[in-house]
Amino acid sequence: MRKKLIVGNYKMNYTLIQAENFVESIKDRINTNEVDVAICPNFVALDRVQNIIEDTNISLGAQNVYYEEKGAYTGETSVDMLVAAGVKYCIVGHSERREIFSETDEIVNLKIKALLQKDLYPILCVGETLKQREGNVYKEHIKNQIDLALRDIDGTQVARNITIAYEPIWAIGTGKTATSEQAEEICKYIRDIIDEKYGQSVSNTIRILYGGSVKPKNSKEILSMENIDGALVGGASLTEDFVAIVNY
Ligand code: PGA
Repeated sequence: MRKKLIVGNYKMNYTLIQAENFVESIKDRINTNEVDVAICPNFVALDRVQNIIEDTNISLGAQNVYYEEKGAYTGETSVDMLVAAGVKYCIVGHSERREIFSETDEIVNLKIKALLQKDLYPILCVGETLKQREGNVYKEHIKNQIDLALRDIDGTQVARNITIAYEPIWAIGTGKTATSEQAEEICKYIRDIIDEKYGQSVSNTIRILYGGSVKPKNSKEILSMENIDGALVGGASLTEDFVAIVNY
C-alpha cells in the first residue's frame, strides 16, 4: 500500500512571520498518522518553519533548487543549502517555473539528479496546457516530460525518492479542477509509463499526486482514486482548508 502524500506549496505567498504564524496555528491539527505531509514555504521562511514543525511528523519541502554545487550563481540555492535547512522534498519543474522562468526539461533533469545525489526527494511536476488537451496531444507531452526528466536515472532511485505530480496547467489556480476520472486516467497513464520504463516493482511503489485547484470539497473524491497517491495543493494550502484536506 502506498502511503498518501499531501504537499502544501505556498508559492510566493507569506512573509517569514506570516508563514511562521500560519504553520504554528495548524501544525497540531494536522493528522499525520495515515498520510505524509510536507509544507513548502519560500526560501526565506524554510529554516524558521522547520523549527516550528520539528516536533511533528510534518516534513519541510522547497519549491525550487539549482543543480550546481556552489559558486557564482546569483540568486540561486544549492541542494546542500536545502539539506542544511532541514529540507526533505523539493518541487521540480512546476509549470510556473517552466512557463515564467523558462525552465527546460534538461534543467529539470539536472535538478533531479543533483537532489538524488544528496538523497533528497524530488516532486516532479508534469502536465499539459489547455491547448494540448484540446489538441489531444497531452499524453505524448506528458510522456515526453517524464522521459526527459528521468533521463539516466535508475529505477531504484525512482522508486525510493521520486514522486510525480500530475498538474494540468488549465486547472492550476483557476478553480477548474480536473474531474477525478480525468485525474485518475492520467495518473494511471503515468504509472503505466513508469511500468514500461522501470518495471512493476517501481511502478507499484512510486507515488503519483494530483495538483490543480484541490480544495476540501473535491479532495476526498480525488484522493479515493486508485492511482492517485496524494495531492499537491497551492491556494488551499494557505488557509484552514489545508487541515481539512489532510484530515480527509
Ligand atoms: P492550486 O495550485 O492548488 O492553487 O491550483 C496547485 C499547484 O500549482 O501546485
